[in-house]
Formats: sequence, structure tokens, C-alpha cells
Amino acid sequence: MSINLGFMCSGRGSNLRAILEAIAEGRLDAHPAIVISNDPMAKALSVAKESGVRAVCIPSTGLSRGDHEQKVLEVLETEALDFLVLAGYMRILSETFLREFKDPRGFYRIVNIHPSLLPAFPGKSAYEEAFNYGVKVSGITIHLVDEKIDHGFILAQEAFPRYDDDTLATFKARGLAVEHKLFPEVLQILAQGQLSFLTRELVQP
Ligand code: GRF
Repeated sequence: MSINLGFMCSGRGSNLRAILEAIAEGRLDAHPAIVISNDPMAKALSVAKESGVRAVCIPSTGLSRGDHEQKVLEVLETEALDFLVLAGYMRILSETFLREFKDPRGFYRIVNIHPSLLPAFPGKSAYEEAFNYGVKVSGITIHLVDEKIDHGFILAQEAFPRYDDDTLATFKARGLAVEHKLFPEVLQILAQGQLSFLTRELVQP
């Protein structure tokens, strides 16, 4: 089953690129319907355009969160998305926004990637915080979004080591390679409709 995906991005778009490559190579059975960025400078917009994917910038600067989200919803309204994918989207979504993606099974059809083994190191600086803490192992989490930040039902986690001679840059690069592998794999599981594990009971905190 092919699924219709929308993406929200704020930055360089390397995960978006990895997902679009997986689609092009037939590893992910999905249609990339639209990419929305809140930042006109986001490289993700050009990543989308290069692949012929509809790219829309809805700048968040100067708008309240509610007004910005309303504009995003107006654009997404016609897209009939199966899942909204947060691929480096750096803003917090309100409950009003989440409710637009409520699935009858009791979860929101929004997926996020976070560069730590949640619940460790939530927030915007997960790589830096994990590295500075001195972890020996870190990892990547892909989860459904809920009302709390970097929280929600975990779809997949993959660990990676931190070596003694790592710098923050080498540590991040190792993690990013895991991100680019794991994200398309998890989306493919969703595309195959293997959602039987997403029961209401499991999703409740
Ligand atoms: C990634 O590290 C992702 O885990 C985090 O934001 C970063 C986005 O990177 N949520 P990119 O824009 O996909 O290159």
C-alpha cells in the first residue's frame, strides 16, 4: 500500500533527502505530496524542488503559533495525507493542530525523529547534551507525536556507540547516518499497514 506523506522541515533537509531517495529507489512505498518549511532559508525547500516535490514556505516569523498553524492547515487541507512527517521541524505543534491528524485508533498521524534514545535528552540540543554528558551509547528515536515535547509512542529506536576519540562532529555524523537509514525503514513499516501494534491501550501514556 502506498501512503501519502507530507513533510514539515525547518533546516537542511538531510532526512527529507534520505526519505525521497528511498522512495525513488523503491525502498519506501510512499508518495511525497508536499514539503512545508517555516523558514524561507531552509535547504529542505530546494531538496524538495530538486525531486519535483511541491515545496511551500509558510514563514513563521511575526506570526503567532495559532496563526502560523492555521496557514499550514489551509495548505495541507487538500492533500489527504496518511501521515505528516516532522523531518527536522523545530517548532512545537499545538493540540489544536494535532487534533487535525487524530486517527480513530487514538493516536495522531504525525511522526517525528529525535536524535537520542528517548526519554533521555529531549529538546533541541540532543546530540550536544548526550555528548557532553559523556554517554557511551546514544541513539535515534522515531515516535508518534503527542501533546508533550519529544514524547509519544515509540515506533523504533536504534543505538550507536560513542567512541573515546569522538568529537561532537564525529558523534553527530555517526548518528545522522543512523537517522537516514532508520527513518525510511520505519515509514515503510507504516506504508505496509503494519499498525496492529498501534492500539489505543499502547498509545495511552
Ligand atoms: C535531525 O538531527 C533530526 O533528528 C532532528 O533535527 C535534525 C534535522 O536534520 N529532529 P535534517 O534537516 O533532516 O538534516
